Amino acid sequence: MEKFIINGGKPLKGEVNICGAKNAAIAILPAILLVKGTCRIENLPNISDVKKYIEVLQELGVKITYESPNEIFVENTEVNSTKCLFEKCRKMRASYYLLGSLLGRYKSVEVPFPGGCDFGTRPIDQHIKGFTALNAQVTLEDGIIKANAKKLVGTSIYLDVVSVGATINILLASVLAEGTTFIENAAKEPHIVDLANFLNAMGANIKGAGTDTIKIQGVKELPGNTAYSIIPDQIEAGTFMIAAAATGGDVIVKNCIPKHLDSLTSKLIEMGITVEEMGDSIHVKCDKRPQKATIKTLPYPGFPTDMQPQMAVLLSIANGTSILTEGVWENRFQYVSELQKLGANIRIEGRSAIIEGVKNLTGSFVNSPDLRGGAALIIAGLAAKNVTEVYNLDHVDRGYENFEQKLKNLGAKIERVKVE
Ligand code: EPZ
Repeated sequence: MEKFIINGGKPLKGEVNICGAKNAAIAILPAILLVKGTCRIENLPNISDVKKYIEVLQELGVKITYESPNEIFVENTEVNSTKCLFEKCRKMRASYYLLGSLLGRYKSVEVPFPGGCDFGTRPIDQHIKGFTALNAQVTLEDGIIKANAKKLVGTSIYLDVVSVGATINILLASVLAEGTTFIENAAKEPHIVDLANFLNAMGANIKGAGTDTIKIQGVKELPGNTAYSIIPDQIEAGTFMIAAAATGGDVIVKNCIPKHLDSLTSKLIEMGITVEEMGDSIHVKCDKRPQKATIKTLPYPGFPTDMQPQMAVLLSIANGTSILTEGVWENRFQYVSELQKLGANIRIEGRSAIIEGVKNLTGSFVNSPDLRGGAALIIAGLAAKNVTEVYNLDHVDRGYENFEQKLKNLGAKIERVKVE
């Protein structure tokens, strides 16, 4: 096990480069299974979630070679099996995208019910509804999801909840289906557009990704034989923007798509923080105590749930009482009890956190409960006086490439230390 030792209270200053988007990468990797040929994927984030996904694909028989830590070359003809009963799948939330891609290509698949961050119940009824509508039979037995179809036939599928995962899974399953599929009330996140762009580059016919209705005209085959570069990670970019603001810093976040961060940018400006867009960079500067805010997380283009814990840290040191409401997940406040150890004054009422801003946080020992909760605690440690130790780094390593090195380059005093 490892921990971070953070000597906080130092403003972050300088420039940071953003990597490829985790949530795009872990949707594009299973989409490789639909390609009957070769492809090259560039700007892959070098994070443990991606490395584990690549190992799963290799165990299924896909030939993948690393051309650099951020680029792979893929040769995919046929898989050895469509049963993905590896231990790795059980632990990875995104392993459920193998359902859509293997069902789409081979009309048969078995995947364990997925794990992932604990935000309360995480149903997959909308995924199953989509597969069933496409003519598949889906069963859940002993923790294994099985889906089979004689042939998949396009249809119109209305999602009862806006779900990123269900939108991606139905897209994957319908690309090679007979006829036309419409996904209505689809999620609009940038990584859904990125997945559709990848599939189109490989030979699919998808229109409308990024809007409420996605139209997928089934094609016979995805020949691939081309390269695709993954979009920058808007959550990583947002995490550095908040880290800059929380430490009273001055940071240029480079290689991002500012449009993807509009909801965060407008909130930061509302709180009195200077945010300037400069092409593919965002300059964040904070030289006074931020003001309180009222925020509710929503599907894109609303304020992202994946920025909610990091934002809570900034609101903890803002001037006044803020209300932060979680509108996507049943329970995403597991990090709050840890943040309280640093002196944050937060109480939870239903799905809202009522945050009374304090002037300073003070260092303590904290456990990272999940990926974004861990990132939030690291930001809190950077902003706090004295020393903070953050344990359970596996969570942040799943989603942030070279996190401590990037922070060190911005002047942070942070060390990764082995815990005996
Ligand atoms: C994705 O999860 C992301 N994960 C999450 O990011 C992110 O928080 C979430 O989208 C929302 O943006 C990955 O991409 C691997 P959903 P996903 O299906 O797809 C309900 C991170 O930190 N729902 O959009 O699992 C569900 O309970 C991770 O990087 C149903 O009711 O989320 C939730 O309330 C954590 N039935 C809401 O919809 C379903 O069949 C949104 O979930 C599916 C979902």
